[in-house]
Amino acid sequence: MSRIKIFDTTLRDGEQSPGCSMNLKEKIEVAKCLERLKVDVIEAGFAISSPGDFESVSTIAKTVKDCTVASLARATAKDIDCAWDAVKMAADPRIHLFIATSPLHMEYKLKMTPDQVLERTAEMTARAKKYCSNIEFSCEDATRSDVDFLCRVVDTAIKNGATVINLPDTVGYTTPDEMRSLISTVMARVPGSDRVEFSVHCHNDLGMAVANSLAGVQGGARQIECTINGLGERAGNTALEEVVMAMRTRPDLFGEDTTRLDATQIARASRTVYSIIGQKAPLNKPIVGRNAFLHESGIHQHGVLANKKTYEILTPEAVGIRTANLVLGKHSGRHAFAAHIQGLGYELTDEELNSVFEEFKALCDKKKEVSDADIDALITHSATVSESDAEGYRLDWFAVQTTNFTTATSTVSLLLGEEKFQAVSLGDGPIDAAFQAIDSIVKPVRHTFDTFRIDSTSQGKDTMGDVRIKLLAEGRTFSGHGLSTDIFEASILAYLQALNRLGAWVEKQNAAEG
Ligand code: KIV
Ligand code: ZN
Repeated sequence: MSRIKIFDTTLRDGEQSPGCSMNLKEKIEVAKCLERLKVDVIEAGFAISSPGDFESVSTIAKTVKDCTVASLARATAKDIDCAWDAVKMAADPRIHLFIATSPLHMEYKLKMTPDQVLERTAEMTARAKKYCSNIEFSCEDATRSDVDFLCRVVDTAIKNGATVINLPDTVGYTTPDEMRSLISTVMARVPGSDRVEFSVHCHNDLGMAVANSLAGVQGGARQIECTINGLGERAGNTALEEVVMAMRTRPDLFGEDTTRLDATQIARASRTVYSIIGQKAPLNKPIVGRNAFLHESGIHQHGVLANKKTYEILTPEAVGIRTANLVLGKHSGRHAFAAHIQGLGYELTDEELNSVFEEFKALCDKKKEVSDADIDALITHSATVSESDAEGYRLDWFAVQTTNFTTATSTVSLLLGEEKFQAVSLGDGPIDAAFQAIDSIVKPVRHTFDTFRIDSTSQGKDTMGDVRIKLLAEGRTFSGHGLSTDIFEASILAYLQALNRLGAWVEKQNAAEG
């Protein structure tokens, strides 16, 4: 079987789903993970959807060297022009345009006739082609489209310069047999199909996205669109780690070395994405869940001890899960620390290393043994802090007083530049009291909490609290992340970061409005 390209859309289809939004720094961090993973195409965003998306697509286009960088665009002139503007600096740019082809979408969403859709396909593919040689054309809701009409649209797109044809299962409706047959039928019927690549893009509404993508490959598709951890609209998209490892595990069906992916980077990419969106892998999540490689029952343990292959079809090492956990402590010097994190697969600049080493030393004063999971958390945290975060309010000190028979009280002292602000507040608990004290100083615009999660970075009672907060305000999400051995401190740090980002955005809006 010839090579299968991996098209990652974590930063577009993944990021557009509720609770998964990322800021620029976080998106760049994910793009770096994807480049290390050696995906073929990074869909960096939907450039026209907001100025923030445009900025992140163009920054990623300029940063990434080893992957094609694509921007999504509806089949309209404005979208296509904007997508090109955002990706044109990429080493290998792609415009990805789409239009819906199912009767339902054409009538109720587009309010266009099939002939108008055909006309638009021709006109917009040709427009995109004038800018860029690499054009992907997607027929949205392909799996609920009339096959004859679908073939006419694909034919028109190919004739006007499309180089990749994507047939998405937009609503996660199809089955593996249908997907295999759809791809092979369209490829057989449309002239010129052999000159372009066919692609699958499956949603997971019925839990069949991975199976449908694999079936699409068996039908002739040579590109799979997927996301890290299966993020995406509703029930998500095809999970990259699952679809890639399925092909690796079954070379008898999919061939050897079908993708160029470096699978040993999967665990790290998965951790980074979960950490950025403030989630954890479900325990039984294939490939990256905590139980994915555990054998609990006696019969299984016995079998695995006799021969690992009895119950293990792939190894944790193959996807970069570390089984040996070396522990560092306060006597570990900078060199040992640098060598250790290099062994964990991180490549940090001197400046990044210095900053993480300082945080590591501070952590060693509070925690005797620092595990790899703690170090992962420190590195992800520092990679997603932006310079502008330092410009807002900083925590000076806090005190909480709480019992199980009185109302909690918190006092918080914040710094803004050199100026000090203090407030005290009661609350439904010490965190509520601390947040109310912060609110009385910062006076933020009205917001609600979309996410407030407190996790632990490792096992054991001296673990660090890993707090993720997402605030909703003005129709946008503002995230904050705090790490500390003290969960009150971690919560305060996360809340302050989110409030600072919200405040900076409001200020920018006000300045723009004059
Ligand atoms: O699900 C879908 O149809 C899409 C397209 C825009 C490719 O995401
Ligand atoms: Zn999609």
